[in-house]
Amino acid sequence: MASDANGSTREIFLSDVIGGLSKSRKRLEPKYFYDARGAELFNQICQLDAYYPTRTETGILDTNADDIAHYLGTDAVLVEYGAGSLEKVRILLDAISNPVALIAVDISADQLDRAANDVRAAYPELEVLHVAADFTRPVDLPEPARVGGNPVVFFPGSTIGNFDPDDAIEFMVGARDTVGPGGMLLIGVDLKKDSARLEIAYDDPAGVTAAFNLNLLTRINRELGGDFDLDTFNHVARYNTNLGRIEMHLKSTKAQTVTINGQPFDFAEGETIHTENSYKYSIEEFQALAERAGFKPMQVWTDAENLFAVHLFKVAADTS
Ligand code: AVJ
Repeated sequence: MASDANGSTREIFLSDVIGGLSKSRKRLEPKYFYDARGAELFNQICQLDAYYPTRTETGILDTNADDIAHYLGTDAVLVEYGAGSLEKVRILLDAISNPVALIAVDISADQLDRAANDVRAAYPELEVLHVAADFTRPVDLPEPARVGGNPVVFFPGSTIGNFDPDDAIEFMVGARDTVGPGGMLLIGVDLKKDSARLEIAYDDPAGVTAAFNLNLLTRINRELGGDFDLDTFNHVARYNTNLGRIEMHLKSTKAQTVTINGQPFDFAEGETIHTENSYKYSIEEFQALAERAGFKPMQVWTDAENLFAVHLFKVAADTS
């Protein structure tokens, strides 16, 4: 990834890690999970029996592709955030009549290059632009060469769940500004459900999610000169019912001092690093959130078990 005004990518990572581990409740941001190994582990998670979101959302998109395409209209221009392997968007590209362009934004550069090339090869008529960027901050998007129909932000996977609700609103305000009047937001959101089902999805029996969580420490060791002993941290995932979110933590099994880039960090036995939140929303809760960001609910599709929701919003007429 490129440098920017705030310094190199490594310096930003280092200062975020030092800042996060200096807090009284230690935390690290989930966007740092996605180095090459992390992206690979996440793709493995998506194939686990226990992790229902991916296959459920894909099923919803498949089942309702024609209906969704009807709402999106002809010549749509799609902007996908958290594009990853770019598999789900193909369902839309296959159903929409004459999609004009796909602008794919993701944090994991290696994976995005490959995925974008695959889509280019499969859809020769489509203009595919891709940007490796941290979309938790505003991103300047490239302009497609051709003028299209409705601009649509596609944000699948319930990645919105990584944001606290206020930040989710801010992200959707950004999406609204990106698409402008006449624009739409098609967004996948995991639904609230019983905590046992949620906790097994984030603590799978094969230990892939544990490896994904712990890989963050491996990444810090490698890229920032850390000395985390991976055998002394355990993966923990629990549903916080009050806040409606899965929390992932890394729990130190003993009192110890970890050094990163020469700086020491003390851990008490049982102390955790909070690495991820994954918020779950009822349909009504999420619609209320999107309305606060200036969107109007148009339609929502779910699966037979009510595990997951795909919402369609349009920019509300009375916002500027
Ligand atoms: C990519 C943020 C949608 O929260 O379900 C999966 C990440 N973490 N298993 C999620 C994740 C552990 C995932 N998102």
